[in-house]
Amino acid sequence: MVAEAAAAIDQSVRDALPFQAIVTDLQLPDGDGRAIVRLARERLPSCPVLMMTGSGSISGSVEAIRLGAVTVLEKPVSLETLANELRQAVDDRAELEDGLDAATNAGIIGRSAAIRGVLDALFLAAPTDATILIEGETGTGKELVAKAVHRLSRRSRAPFIPVNCAALPETLVESELFGHLKGAFTGADKSREGRFQQAHRGTLFLDEIGEMPLPLQPKLLRAIQEGEVQPLGSTKAEKVDARVVAATNRKLEQQVAARTFRADLYYRLNVVPLHIPPLRERPEDVAVLAAHFLKPAKRNLTPAAIAALERYAWPGNVREMENLIQRLLVLKPQGDLDLADLPPAVRGAPASSGAPAAALPGQGVDLYAVLGDLEDRLIREALERSGGNRNQAAQSLGIKRTTLVEKLRKMARREGS
Ligand SMILES: Nc1ncnc2c1ncn2[C@@H]1O[C@H](COP(=O)(O)OP(=O)(O)OP(=O)(O)O)[C@@H](O)[C@H]1O
Ligand SMILES: [Mg+2]
Repeated sequence: MVAEAAAAIDQSVRDALPFQAIVTDLQLPDGDGRAIVRLARERLPSCPVLMMTGSGSISGSVEAIRLGAVTVLEKPVSLETLANELRQAVDDRAELEDGLDAATNAGIIGRSAAIRGVLDALFLAAPTDATILIEGETGTGKELVAKAVHRLSRRSRAPFIPVNCAALPETLVESELFGHLKGAFTGADKSREGRFQQAHRGTLFLDEIGEMPLPLQPKLLRAIQEGEVQPLGSTKAEKVDARVVAATNRKLEQQVAARTFRADLYYRLNVVPLHIPPLRERPEDVAVLAAHFLKPAKRNLTPAAIAALERYAWPGNVREMENLIQRLLVLKPQGDLDLADLPPAVRGAPASSGAPAAALPGQGVDLYAVLGDLEDRLIREALERSGGNRNQAAQSLGIKRTTLVEKLRKMARREGS
């Protein structure tokens, strides 16, 4: 019995499918239940162990608690009591773990070496004023990390000001960042503070920094280097004290090589690089992330469903998982989420060239109608995956944002008519 339990615990560690709870008797045919408590604490530190005893041995019970059993139940134990105790133990543990994760890791969930590396660097760099460059694909948590940097810095009481460099037309980026005086350009009927000034004593988050127009890059460098900005239309530089955290989903180094990004600015930003790998390269984070998103709903995934999520490639990374889980919870309001509840692509339909499968029906098709439908569907899916972010949706469809916006306008007109 003890040997079998030990083997099962080992197996569950190897399969990365840890037991949610363990129930053992104190006296087992071939040994002592306390050995199981000890082993479980060692190998499965987050798995609660419940001990049952019929011997009434106080010292045995005390010893079991001392070793880390969450409770000792006096036999006979009704099934109902056992079920309640188990539920309680699992809930308590989840709460404890989540609290610990949230508190110690700034809300950044993950147990992979990559995430632990990011957290280590983040804890070291956050309290300094060092510029941080966060690189990672869409949905990997770059903004989450940037906010954690701010929260863990001595600037946490001052504002965190995000600027999405990709969302602004080139002509507006400069005044957005540095501000402008009244009359600086047509339409500037009032003076306006720039984002740098708003972030004074706080943190300026330059999102999608790879999109920063080349002509503006020297001014940005100067603002970071000298702590000085010059509003449009002004002849005087203003002092600002903003800590800069930048993020990009492109390889900035390649942009430097291609001369679309200035090397001097790159080096100035890249004082502390934080690289967040895509979720498909750290499957060990999938189960803990899924549990994190399911937690508020008090729901679970079956082991088979978790295994499928771990195999899936997650092109939209953690954001895609968060959206998927929210959708699954809506579609299935009760019970465990199983393999069959997952969309086919996630469940493990074989990988394709990227082109959706198609077959020509016997009676033929109206090619343009079919293509139109397919286009609409892919656009909706891309938007869903990006959580409504049009930049990313356009990127995942390989089209320009403006093209996407135009297509959405047409879709809306068609639906309206
Ligand atoms: N390690 C993580 N732990 C918990 N939540 C995460 C983690 N990584 C990402 N998320 C969540 O996933 C979502 C997307 O994260 P975020 O917006 O930070 O991504 P991003 O890298 O900035 O994406 P994009 O490049 O598309 O802007 C957010 O809701 C975020 O809270
Ligand atoms: Mg982002």
